[in-house]
Amino acid sequence: MANSELDNAIAFRFAFIIMGCITGLISGQIRYSVPEEVEIGAFIGNIANDLRLKIPQLSNRKFRLTSDDGGRYMKVNLDNGISSVRERIDRELLCGQAAMCSIPFEIMLENPLAVYRGEVEILDINDNYPTFRDSSITLQMYEAITPGVHFPLDSAEDPDIGINTVAAYTISSNEYFSIKAQTTEYGVVNTELQLEKPLDREMQSAFQLVLTVTDDGIPQKSGTAQILITVVDVNDNPPVFDHDIYKGTLIENSPKGTMVLTVKANDLDEGLNAELTYSFSKPASSRVLELFSLDPHTGQIRVEGELDFEEARRYTLNVQAMDHGSPAMAGRSIVLIKIIDVNDNAPEVKLTSGTSKIPENAPPGTLTSLINVVDRDSGENGQFRCDNPTNVPFRLRKILTNHYELITSEPLDRETVAQYKMPFVAQDLGSPSLTTNKTIEVVISDVNDNAPQFGASSYNIYVMENNSPGSSIFVVTARDRDMDQNSYVSYSFLENLHLDFPVSSYLSINSMNGTIYTLQSFDYEKFKNLQIHVQARDAGVPPLRGSCTVNVIILDQNDNAPVIVSPSSESGSAAVQILPQSAGLGYLITKVMATDADSGQNARLSYEMVKASDPTLFNIGHNSGEIRTARKILESDTTAQTLFVLVKDNGQPSLSSTVTVHITVLDNITENAIETGNLLRNSEQFTNLNLHLIIIFGCTSVLFFVIILLLIGFKCKEIINASQDYNSSSCCGESNYTLNRRPALEETLRYPGTGRMVRVPEAHYYSVCLSPESAKSDFLFLKPCSALMSQAQS
Ligand SMILES: *[C@@H]1O[C@H](CO)[C@@H](O)[C@H](O)[C@H]1NC(C)=O
Repeated sequence: MANSELDNAIAFRFAFIIMGCITGLISGQIRYSVPEEVEIGAFIGNIANDLRLKIPQLSNRKFRLTSDDGGRYMKVNLDNGISSVRERIDRELLCGQAAMCSIPFEIMLENPLAVYRGEVEILDINDNYPTFRDSSITLQMYEAITPGVHFPLDSAEDPDIGINTVAAYTISSNEYFSIKAQTTEYGVVNTELQLEKPLDREMQSAFQLVLTVTDDGIPQKSGTAQILITVVDVNDNPPVFDHDIYKGTLIENSPKGTMVLTVKANDLDEGLNAELTYSFSKPASSRVLELFSLDPHTGQIRVEGELDFEEARRYTLNVQAMDHGSPAMAGRSIVLIKIIDVNDNAPEVKLTSGTSKIPENAPPGTLTSLINVVDRDSGENGQFRCDNPTNVPFRLRKILTNHYELITSEPLDRETVAQYKMPFVAQDLGSPSLTTNKTIEVVISDVNDNAPQFGASSYNIYVMENNSPGSSIFVVTARDRDMDQNSYVSYSFLENLHLDFPVSSYLSINSMNGTIYTLQSFDYEKFKNLQIHVQARDAGVPPLRGSCTVNVIILDQNDNAPVIVSPSSESGSAAVQILPQSAGLGYLITKVMATDADSGQNARLSYEMVKASDPTLFNIGHNSGEIRTARKILESDTTAQTLFVLVKDNGQPSLSSTVTVHITVLDNITENAIETGNLLRNSEQFTNLNLHLIIIFGCTSVLFFVIILLLIGFKCKEIINASQDYNSSSCCGESNYTLNRRPALEETLRYPGTGRMVRVPEAHYYSVCLSPESAKSDFLFLKPCSALMSQAQS
């Protein structure tokens, strides 16, 4: 410090000397110069010398400084006349920034009064540092400003003047900023900070610079200030996603809310410019918006709807992040989401039609229905298996990947199974596997493959004769196993003749229901049965037929009264029988012969005597009709006897006929003569037969005997066996002399007197029987055995 003050003192003196020289040239006025801030007592000037005064005169003439300023900063030593600095002089305080600064002074002397004026010029020294008003300067600038822009700075201040005041500004070394200032006659002005290079907040968001100001004084002095520059963000960076493409996988049917992945974007900007909102970038498909959600703040993508692999196997989501700057900037990315299949679809089975219909005669291999099977899953989950139906005449045939045909594998029969309902099962190969069950219905349609069938091949119908025409006697029914039209049966007669007349003249049939009606009243005595063939025919195309035989068996009714064959009544007068007086007990007078056209019981005749002139004299065989004497003939008996014989059949009610037998008792003829006469009388019906015929007849009878004797062993035995329970004593049973004659065909006998044609059917047996009386007589007594035979048959 001591050295420095010494240096200053030397400098001041040097200045003083120069100044002194200059001031001396100014006349009339005393001028001194002294640097500011010199020490107190520093020499200013020798006033006594400069005023050419002698030192003693100073005191004598009462030398004094009269001006205020002069007196304040300067004092004069009256002993040597030298003025010196009385007080510290600060030029900047006295004169500010004025270029010239001086302190005027006045000296007054008396004896004689004299006044001198002078001034002391204060010389500037570099005693002040240039300074900034604020030690730090804060600036904010947008990063977007272009290089060359100026930012004005507050100037530094230095109270000194001239070279001692502010001379230059400098800034700490940096790439971005420089200082621009203009130097004028008034000093350095318009100090500005200039941007040299584009700013990037994202590279450097703040600068801290040091601004230095210097003067040119000696020694040079400087001041500094800090410049703090904040770079204000501009939304110049778009958000950028972490990945260009995000990839995620997701199992289908993932529940709502399942996290898929999180997208993240960064924005280099700050503040609102870096605050991001995530969204699906437009145009996002509406389906994506249904299925996924994107959290605008966190960027989490979650499942929102029902994911179906079968709908889509992958999704592409365009996402964007948008900052909140103005204008906002957006960044984009893509999210690829792969859906993993789950076996969630059972095979779908589609049938061409719910029910298919095929005719029963369809050959094996006929297409019945088409089946389409689709499984919407993929891989094993989408493969499936279809099993053949079991126990049905159908099988599956694969025609294309997803198509099956159901074809017949065996012949069908609607009458056995008219409708099939088979399960169809499709099972996929997923795990666990899913199955679909369907029922295939096949209706078998009818084909006319069944003929109408009667319950039996033949029927026997029993119809009482004398039936009323038009009555129904029977119903034939044929069943047809087909259906509908193919089973509609109509009936008809297969035309054939019966007794030269078509069957349709006897019977008719209701073609609809098979009821058979009679058209005539039947007569058992004309024919005993009628055979018809009934045909049933269905309505199919072509029609099928079936037939049966109906035997109409006509039952006998007691509608024929017995007809007396002998003794015949000759035109109103009864025949006369001869009875010899000598005839004893049991003498056969005559035999009443009658026939009955009916059969069976209706033709079984019995005889009884209803009235006699002498009832004690005669009796009649109940079954044989033989009239015999009941006692010996007495003289008293009248010669003319009359008997009334009733012949009745066994029908219900029975029918009867009567015959009157006249008997004449003669006493002069032999028994044989009478018998011959009797026979002759009896044989009056055979009027045309002469004696020869009778002889031939007799011979034939003898021949019969021989034959009968030969055949007796088996011929008659058969009949006995056939009529075991018949113990009639009449002819066959007793005598065993029976001849059965079967007429070649129906035989018509003409019975005289009745004029009726009696048609004897083939099945009707006639027996020519020998009465026991033949033993007593040379003649054979013939009688029909038909009643007995038919009785035996029944
Ligand atoms: C058959 O049809 C006729 C006429 O329609 C009817 O009178 C009769 O009763 C029917 N017979 C049967 C057995 O249905």
